[in-house]
Parts: sequence; C-alpha cells; structure tokens
Amino acid sequence: LTKAFVTGFPVKHSRSPKIHNHWLKEFGIAGDYSAVEVAPDDFAAFIAGVKSGASGFSGGNVTIPHKEKAFQLADQPDELALELGAANTLYRRDGQLFATNTDGYGFLANLDDRAPGWDSTKRQALVLGAGGASRAIIQALRDRGFAEIHVINRTHVKAQELADRFGERVHAAGMDALSERLSGADLFVNTTSLGMDESDAPDIDFSIMASGALVTDIVYVPLETPFLAKAKEQGLRTADGLGMLLHQAVPGFELWFGKRPIVTEELRSLIL
Ligand code: ATR
Repeated sequence: LTKAFVTGFPVKHSRSPKIHNHWLKEFGIAGDYSAVEVAPDDFAAFIAGVKSGASGFSGGNVTIPHKEKAFQLADQPDELALELGAANTLYRRDGQLFATNTDGYGFLANLDDRAPGWDSTKRQALVLGAGGASRAIIQALRDRGFAEIHVINRTHVKAQELADRFGERVHAAGMDALSERLSGADLFVNTTSLGMDESDAPDIDFSIMASGALVTDIVYVPLETPFLAKAKEQGLRTADGLGMLLHQAVPGFELWFGKRPIVTEELRSLIL
C-alpha cells in the first residue's frame, strides 16, 4: 500500500484528501492519502519519520504553517523550492527527501485549461498581494515569460521584497498605484483574502486593462468573487481559483502513485 499525507496545523479544512482519494479510486490504485495534523514543535520529528521510512509514507503535501520548514528539512529541494524558500510537495527517493513547490504549476495549468490563449502576449501582469501564494504565482509568471509583473500590496515593503527576490521584471507598488499599474495590463490576479467578503473588496475598474485581458482570483469560496463578478460585468474574461487547487495536486499524485491524473468537471463539482 502506497501512502501519502497532507500535513498542516490545523489541517482538517484541507480538501486534498478528497482530491487524491478520488484519483486513487479512479485509477484503482491501492493507496492511501490522509490528513495528519502536526504541531510546529513536532514537525521536525514528523519529517524525520518520513525520511527514514519509519512512518511508511512515500511523500506528501505540506500546508500552512509548515511550508518553509519543509523546504529547510528536505535533502533535495529543487530550484523552484529553493528560490521560494518554501515547499508544498515532498517525496522519497533512494532514502532521500526531495521537495518541490507545485503552486505555480497549478496556477498556470488552471489558466491554460480555463482560458486558453490567456498568455498570448506575455506583456504585463498585475498581482495583488505579497503573501505565500503570491510568491509562487510571481515566479510562475516570470518563468512563463511575462515582460512586466507588478506586485501591489497594502504593505509596500513586502511587495518590494518580492520584487528584489524575483528579479528585474518584477516591480513593487502600494495600493495607491493600482489603477496606474492595471492600465493596459493583460492579467489581473488577486492573491489576497479581499473578496472572500463582499464588503471589503475594493472597487476596481478593470475596463482600463488591455483588450482580451483576463481577471483571475485564487480565492474559490465563493467561486465567483466580487472581483470576478465586477470584471465579468465589465465584459472581461475571468477564471476562478478552484482549478489552481486541483491542478497543483497533479504532480504530487504522479510522484507518489506513478500515474498522472487529469482535472475533470466531475472533480470540480466534487470538491466545490
Ligand atoms: P497566502 O499565503 O494565502 O498568500 P498571506 O501570506 O497571509 O496568505 O498573505 C495575505 C495577503 O493578503 C497579503 O498580501 C496581505 O497584505 P499585507 O502584506 O499588507 O498584510 C493581503 N491582505 C489581507 N487582508 C487584506 C486587506 N484587508 N487589505 C489589503 N490586503 C490584505
């Protein structure tokens, strides 16, 4: 029996077990994927058990607040994890623990799936927010070849840190520069919790974006966030955030269980 985990603190809200167990069933694989709640003080011991093989896991997912520690404790972080300083996917090979981060992959794969051609110009993107999710998305957009990536954050210094980390194509600004940086942009991404709640969502005029521009949100509860509703009303293309969660799970499943799953409408409705 091949076993994998998702660990976080807390972890009970994670939808990952549902996703992976759906795929295990679909492929008829004798595997198990389960949530393991691990407190920060116990995390190093948990990882030691994974590394040694004592816990019987082939690998697993890591979520808040363990992503940075997971990266630090892994023997072999890949380039993505190294640059982010965080890992969400761990796997064992030849007695060593490998680490990667699949959030950026999930972000891009979702847009490729839901909004084909979204990156045809690769010109100008605006990312709202400068937290953990924002990092992986900025890295992914840069690696996809976007010429300009503007990071806008309430706390300017955090946006500046990301601009410094990800190189000269990434530019930082505060909220006051939002409409200036959005003008002519091909992509708007919300990575903040703004918009989970209608009342605190800033009113953004998306009509100043380039023609054919795409507006996306990583929040998927509600599926249509106020940002997406507004953009749709203004006639822009939109993509919701549910698929990012589903697609980021694909590489991990393949690493642990040896088959590459696909993200279907059936899975979307099951997870929502
Ligand atoms: P995640 O890991 O999901 O990215 P995070 O690291 O907690 O979450 O980051 C949350 C992001 O949402 C931050 O960019 C935060 O802005 P600050 O850096 O200024 O804190 C942003 N955010 C959260 N609530 C916000 C609000 N009410 N207004 C503006 N930005 C907000």
